[in-house]
Amino acid sequence: MNQRLSIKLARYSFSSQLTMCKCRVFCFSSDLKNLGARRVCLMTDKNLSKLPPVNAVLNSLAKYGINFQMYDNVRVEPTDQSFIDAIQFARKGGFDAYVAVGGGSVIDTCKAANLYAASPSSEFLDYVNAPIGKGKPVTVPLKPLIAVPTTSGTGSETTGVAIFDFKELKVKTGIASRAIKPTLGIIDPLHTLSMPERIVANSGFDVLCHALESYTALPYNQRSPCPSNPIDRPAYQGSNPISDVWALHALRIVAKYLKRAIRNPEDREARANMHLASAFAGIGFGNAGVHLCHGMSYPISGLVKSYKPKDYNVDHSLVPHGLSVVLTSPAVFAFTAQIHPERHLEAAEILGADIRTARIKDAGLILADTLRKFLFDLNVDDGLAAIGYSKADIPALVKGTLPQERVTKLSPRPQTEEDLSALFEASMKLY
Ligand SMILES: NC(=O)c1ccc[n+]([C@@H]2O[C@H](COP(=O)([O-])OP(=O)(O)OC[C@H]3O[C@@H](n4cnc5c(N)ncnc54)[C@H](O)[C@@H]3O)[C@@H](O)[C@H]2O)c1
Ligand SMILES: [Fe+2]
Repeated sequence: MNQRLSIKLARYSFSSQLTMCKCRVFCFSSDLKNLGARRVCLMTDKNLSKLPPVNAVLNSLAKYGINFQMYDNVRVEPTDQSFIDAIQFARKGGFDAYVAVGGGSVIDTCKAANLYAASPSSEFLDYVNAPIGKGKPVTVPLKPLIAVPTTSGTGSETTGVAIFDFKELKVKTGIASRAIKPTLGIIDPLHTLSMPERIVANSGFDVLCHALESYTALPYNQRSPCPSNPIDRPAYQGSNPISDVWALHALRIVAKYLKRAIRNPEDREARANMHLASAFAGIGFGNAGVHLCHGMSYPISGLVKSYKPKDYNVDHSLVPHGLSVVLTSPAVFAFTAQIHPERHLEAAEILGADIRTARIKDAGLILADTLRKFLFDLNVDDGLAAIGYSKADIPALVKGTLPQERVTKLSPRPQTEEDLSALFEASMKLY
């Protein structure tokens, strides 16, 4: 029988500006010169301002005679107020380029400062994701932003996303637009050597969840509605063949190197690989998106009570982002595996599960058990209860997840309020 094969072609558009830098961060000041920068805004946080990554950048700026002003008031886990403070600094400064040296908190704050300085009459909520903000598309041209990540986690140097804690609603949300992607990301693992153990662990869990969530997200061709104008295309488009490559590659690196990077600060091979994995996963999820672990993490961070994590040199309580996403991961993947179980099983195998005799219908449970073991081995807090939550908090946690449609709608399996309650309840204790 002759059967005509019909091959469906899809169009993929993809962009990211990353450079591999052989001469460490020092050459980045030449990039600033090439960009014609005359007045640079350098952003970082107070803790980092005393550490080697910022020193290296200051030396480089001095060596190349770059005129700059430093803003080191970035809040670790930024809020609307801390974003606004940085925006005011940027609006007053009249800068023609930005350099962000830090983790996701710094890079995200710098993205927001660049955006609102370029759009001086905008109100803060104009660009914030709907339904919390107005979600206006960005049409103004932004100044160049060079991102120098110092954690191995968010991949923010590759993404068009800036996340903050919206205090009034006690929930995290953000700004999402390709227009706010950094112009250049400098991936230099030497900057990560000063990271203490728990920051390596928590930022590494963010990489783990970026990879797992983007690989299991709703496929791009099942996402709706289709925007009538390309400017309204969401930054997060659903899993697709291109982001799959980045997600799987990042997951393999996490499986091989995360434990080593956490346990031994001298293990440069592990730290270097994790720094790359962070960017790889960033390119993957920055295009495909994340889903329930992230959607549910926003109220987990936003409703923080008195939790003060070890190794975070800050004076306020916070749930580090990576911890807030990973604590629900066993429950989430046990729930989502009904759809595309083969992807869940593949992920479990990459993370070390023996799947030779596994049944496909057990994929979710196998991945959940693999994750639990992974977290137990790394001394991770025993679930949401260990960071201060109880059953009584579940309604508020669910309420804070409901507006996170930008990500929760990318879950391969739709979820009701009851499902979310059950997921939070199952995440109270892990072991
Ligand atoms: N934009 C995105 O695509 C994206 C993605 C995921 C998460 N995020 C956001 O990023 C933030 C979290 O960022 P993060 O996990 O990178 O951490 P972070 O920027 O919040 O920093 C955490 C702590 O690590 C310290 N630190 C950073 N680098 C260090 C180094 N090299 N040596 C010693 N200390 C160091 C900081 O001073 C801080 O105390 C959250 O707000 C999260 O929501 C953004
Ligand atoms: Fe994240």
